[in-house]
Amino acid sequence: MKSIFLLISLVFSASAIAEEKPAITHGEQLHNEKCMACHTTNVYTREDRRIKTLQALSNQVDNCMKGAAKAEWTEIETSSVVDYLNQKFYKF
Ligand code: HEC
Repeated sequence: MKSIFLLISLVFSASAIAEEKPAITHGEQLHNEKCMACHTTNVYTREDRRIKTLQALSNQVDNCMKGAAKAEWTEIETSSVVDYLNQKFYKF
């Protein structure tokens, strides 16, 4: 009986972890659809990169999204791209 309980709680905790992923994967997907036309991800890791704070990153994504990429993302979509870039490249 105990082991069944353990199994159930394992399944639940595994799905809790899985639930956190889509936001990032979605951000990555949005990014790859709209943001690779002019630059690769190299601009995020180049030595003299311009973005130094999370706020600046957020502004830059917002500007590039509206201007350069004409992406028309919602706020949630935009922030999932910010999260993706921050977690994968900038790490603020
Ligand atoms: C029409 C071309 C174009 C598109 C499309 C574009 N960008 Fe950019 N982006 C640029 C250019 C050019 C630069 C470099 C500006 C510089 O050298 O200072 C840049 C720089 C950046 C930087 C700053 C890199 C640094 O120095 O730290 C970020 C972040 C960024 N872009 C995000 C995005 C995102 C997110 C998208 C999609 C919504 C996007 N870009 C789409 C042209 C574009």
